[in-house]
Amino acid sequence: MRFDEKRVTLKDGRTAVLRTAEPEPEVAQTLIDYMVQTAEETPFLLRYPDEIHYTIESETAFLENAVADPRIIMMTVMVDGEAAGCASVNPVGGVRRIRHRGSLAIALKRKYWGLGIGSKVIGYLSELAQAAGYEQLELGVIEGNDRAKSLYEKCGFTETGKQVDAIRYDDGTYADEILMIRKLTGKE
Ligand SMILES: CC(C)(COP(=O)(O)OP(=O)(O)OC[C@H]1O[C@@H](n2cnc3c(N)ncnc32)[C@H](O)[C@@H]1OP(=O)(O)O)[C@@H](O)C(=O)NCCC(=O)NCCS
Repeated sequence: MRFDEKRVTLKDGRTAVLRTAEPEPEVAQTLIDYMVQTAEETPFLLRYPDEIHYTIESETAFLENAVADPRIIMMTVMVDGEAAGCASVNPVGGVRRIRHRGSLAIALKRKYWGLGIGSKVIGYLSELAQAAGYEQLELGVIEGNDRAKSLYEKCGFTETGKQVDAIRYDDGTYADEILMIRKLTGKE
């Protein structure tokens, strides 16, 4: 889906622009670069950098599908003309019994952490998700990702359980995934 651009003020006084990730080759390239960079900067995402194989064509097609689907929200965060990060809400599934559930994801480049972007982005995504008909947002956070967990709690998410050993790193160590949910309907 496409949505209105929103400008928010960060903790350091700069402005971030939250906008639809448009299916354009420059945006696609920017997002591919951003995915590789964030995969290099944190162990708390799913992919290793060498597992990101998107091309400009495949990424543009992916974004075309996203803007055409009224239930997919793909948001870029621009600061001083640079892509600071990206966030999304996707349907957990399309069949009626799970249509009320959205899956939220967010990742920012490291130099943009701690500026309050996460809170503003989740606030706007929640508004848009509610308007799109979602009743709850769900996510998984890898144990040890205290900044993300604290952000989600601040934004009203609560822990519902964990997937034990959900992540296996190349060095053979494992990490649990903590499952969290936020109701958008007011009921707990
Ligand atoms: C997780 C992430 C999105 C947070 O975004 P952010 O813009 O830095 O978040 P915010 O600044 O809005 O808020 C983070 C909060 O956590 C707090 N925090 C920071 N470091 C912390 C830590 N080590 N332990 C606990 N809380 C911490 C901050 O104080 C802040 O709360 P405050 O605003 O009340 O002070 C960002 O760090 C990121 O993209 N990380 C890499 C990718 C990732 O892990 N994505 C999430 C996958 S589930």
